Amino acid sequence: MVKKRAASSEIDNLPKHVAIIMDGNGRWAKKRGLPRIAGHRAGVGALQEIVNLSAKAGIEVLTVYAFSSENWKRPRTEISMLMELFASSLRQRFKGLHDNNVRLRFMGDLSLFPEKLRTSMKDAENLTTNNTGLKLVVAVNYGGRWDITNAFIQLCNKIKDKEVRIEDINEALIGEYVCLSDLPEPALFIRTGGEMRISNYLLWQLAYTELYFDDCLWPDFGAANLEKAFEWYAGRERRFGRTSEQIEHA
Ligand code: FPP
Repeated sequence: MVKKRAASSEIDNLPKHVAIIMDGNGRWAKKRGLPRIAGHRAGVGALQEIVNLSAKAGIEVLTVYAFSSENWKRPRTEISMLMELFASSLRQRFKGLHDNNVRLRFMGDLSLFPEKLRTSMKDAENLTTNNTGLKLVVAVNYGGRWDITNAFIQLCNKIKDKEVRIEDINEALIGEYVCLSDLPEPALFIRTGGEMRISNYLLWQLAYTELYFDDCLWPDFGAANLEKAFEWYAGRERRFGRTSEQIEHA
């Protein structure tokens, strides 16, 4: 008999915060003889499905890497098509997300994005600010080193203005200045596309995150893949430096 995979709703111990690197769009398109942008378009469809499934499963936060600070090195045509895709996806998918009670947030250095796109992103954030369902964080022009550098700059300015003393600096304080500091730390990281690296994503925030890699190319990542990742996560023992015995007797 084929063992039926548990639906997300049947899995205990779901992660509160899932962070995803959606990799493999280009290869997905190449395999089909299509231009790379077709892979990114299919990637938006996969993202929509994962958002719906995560919201339904009761995941609190989903943070997805849509454009890294290194992605500016891509051919200009791919970059401008990606910008157009972000803008059109926001236009077309916004209502559905809002109706689904999703709260949207963009994370990263938005200053390099076209002004019109920045305005749409801000509008989407403002319009969904009172939504109480899944928090969807879209990382754009984001880099983990940029994030930590930014925290440093903010803290140095506080020291300069005598609002913070050097003796007060500790991990908890630095953690207040990096992105996502108001949200639970990512519990599960998923990277599709077969590469096993973090690629400058959430370097500070992933310190204790469970890392899961799936060979599946992002546009093909669907319910079965997500449930497999959740099942794997549910079986992990999160020790945070302690021993198994300590966890058992806690
Ligand atoms: C990595 O695949 C993917 C990206 C750089 C872009 C991801 C963007 C989306 C899935 C669209 C998201 C849209 C919105 C509206 C947030 P790759 O191009 O590096 O693939 P490859 O490794 O196969 O070349």
